[in-house]
Amino acid sequence: MNIQSKSLRRYVAPLVAIAVLATATLVTAREPFTKAELKVADDKLTQSAKRGYDMWYGARADMANNGLACANCHPDAAATNPQTFPKYMPQTDRVMAYREMVNWCIQNPQGGKEMASDSADMVALESYSYYLHRGVTIQTGLQTRQTAGPTPTTARGMNVKGTGIGFDK
Ligand code: HEC
Repeated sequence: MNIQSKSLRRYVAPLVAIAVLATATLVTAREPFTKAELKVADDKLTQSAKRGYDMWYGARADMANNGLACANCHPDAAATNPQTFPKYMPQTDRVMAYREMVNWCIQNPQGGKEMASDSADMVALESYSYYLHRGVTIQTGLQTRQTAGPTPTTARGMNVKGTGIGFDK
């Protein structure tokens, strides 16, 4: 083998590998979603966000032993800054995910029962607050927007009409 064909091989081999990969990617790439599929996805998310809204404003017995709802301290879910998580929280002296902070509030200010992080309820609270933050820049770790909630000692949720999913149960 002469020097020329050796160096040709050196260049051609990676090119062939890239071409094979590209073809494989093309073959396995997901087709664009159909309108019907998009509707299912949108409906499911909206349903989860609505359930989260109801949980945020309603006082659920298992979520609090003092009748408090999230909204009593965080009248607007936007105040809880999901776009800044994961971040260091002084309460626990460690970096926490948003859902862990939600559980911290359920267990501490509300005196309620911790939720499984993969439960439909926890996902609903996330759906609601993240939904409000669509388009907001992710600023993981940002401390300056951390908002201290007011600290009422008792309440009965908020006077809002629930959507019917997960409200006051
Ligand atoms: C009695 C008042 C009270 C209630 C009720 C309450 N929280 Fe909080 N929440 C706080 C306080 C106090 C903090 C800590 C603020 C700080 O560290 O500066 C906080 C912080 C948070 C944060 C972090 C906010 C940030 O910007 O870092 C999240 C997320 C949160 N709460 C979610 C919830 C959710 C969800 C509920 C309902 C399940 C809830 N909270 C109920 C008082 C409350």
